[in-house]
Amino acid sequence: MNTLTSEIEIIKSKTSKINEVDFENLSFGKTFSDHMLECHYKNGKWEAPKVVPYHPITLDPSAKIFHYGQSVFEGMKAYKDANDDIFLFRPLDNCKRLNISSKRLAIPELPESYFMEGLKALLKVDSDWIPKKDGSSLYIRPFVFASGNGFHASPADEYTFLIACAPSGSYFSGKVKVLIEEKYSRSANGGVGFAKAGGNYAGQFYPTQLAIEKGYQQVIWTDDNTHEYIEEAGAMNIFIRINDTLITGPTSDRILDGITRKSIIELAKAEGIPVEVRKITVHEVVAAAKNGSLKEMFGAGTAAVISPISGFGYHGEDFDLPELENTYASSLKKRITDIQTNKCDDPFGWRYKV
Ligand code: PLP
Ligand code: COI
Repeated sequence: MNTLTSEIEIIKSKTSKINEVDFENLSFGKTFSDHMLECHYKNGKWEAPKVVPYHPITLDPSAKIFHYGQSVFEGMKAYKDANDDIFLFRPLDNCKRLNISSKRLAIPELPESYFMEGLKALLKVDSDWIPKKDGSSLYIRPFVFASGNGFHASPADEYTFLIACAPSGSYFSGKVKVLIEEKYSRSANGGVGFAKAGGNYAGQFYPTQLAIEKGYQQVIWTDDNTHEYIEEAGAMNIFIRINDTLITGPTSDRILDGITRKSIIELAKAEGIPVEVRKITVHEVVAAAKNGSLKEMFGAGTAAVISPISGFGYHGEDFDLPELENTYASSLKKRITDIQTNKCDDPFGWRYKV
């Protein structure tokens, strides 16, 4: 694997849009910082990444990304503490997962130093874009796509890796009610569900639109074979609390191995919460909702952080979750965001100072 032999080249933007941004009222992923990281794969190798002004890109109409969806991405966040120090959360895990996704999509893997050094250089140039307000952060979107041309249905010979950043507030506004899916599937055995492939999300849009029309915000995917097992949500892994036990499904080649998910499992265990990583059936959840032992459900992901679920629909019936005073969701969310934003110690070594 190639490693960086020199400093990352930085081409600064002549103007800044930062004064146009209302940092007190940020939505999610709609405004972009002044710079981005750009890196090209040509002639069988990745060229050195550069920090460049944020700009639109030009592609040939035959670029394979348009036709065959050869693209993968990551989601990360940068935080700033009271001293203006910048932190990431387990960034090497995102880098490794990007390459796991790339491999499955026949995209050449990126050298880790290009990702890590490129990201750090970008964050230093755009450090003023990292919000300090509680609940806000700089959402980071690294992505790789097939920029090589040709209608032949085969991997491209050229790729582009970009990192774009968006100062962002929360992903969901308001309560999250979910629909447990009985017909459509997000992924299948042997497929690309474990990868953060762009097409995984496109395939969810139509069933999610149907759920939104019925008054839900998200679909909870079930296994493609029987639709009996809870898998994950569109952009989050799912946790279910029955009595005092926190349960989440095991990862598989159908489920994204979420960094928030694995952190929550460790955090919850460290706090003495009984945790079970096991398959969980829809019937178990419905029965628990009916007999009152279903205490909480929440989604976990970088964008969503920990998003409590207020209720779910299944087979034409709606189930509300109780409104507890002290929830696992709120205590675990505080713990993980305190670690991410340098407000407490980090015995796990997850926080990464830029
Ligand atoms: N599952 C899916 C399908 C996702 O898109 C995400 C978001 O990245 C997650 C789970 C959560 O993963 P992570 O915690 O690594 O962000
Ligand atoms: C993230 O949580 O970072 C994601 O990638 C989810 C995304 C689809 C918004």
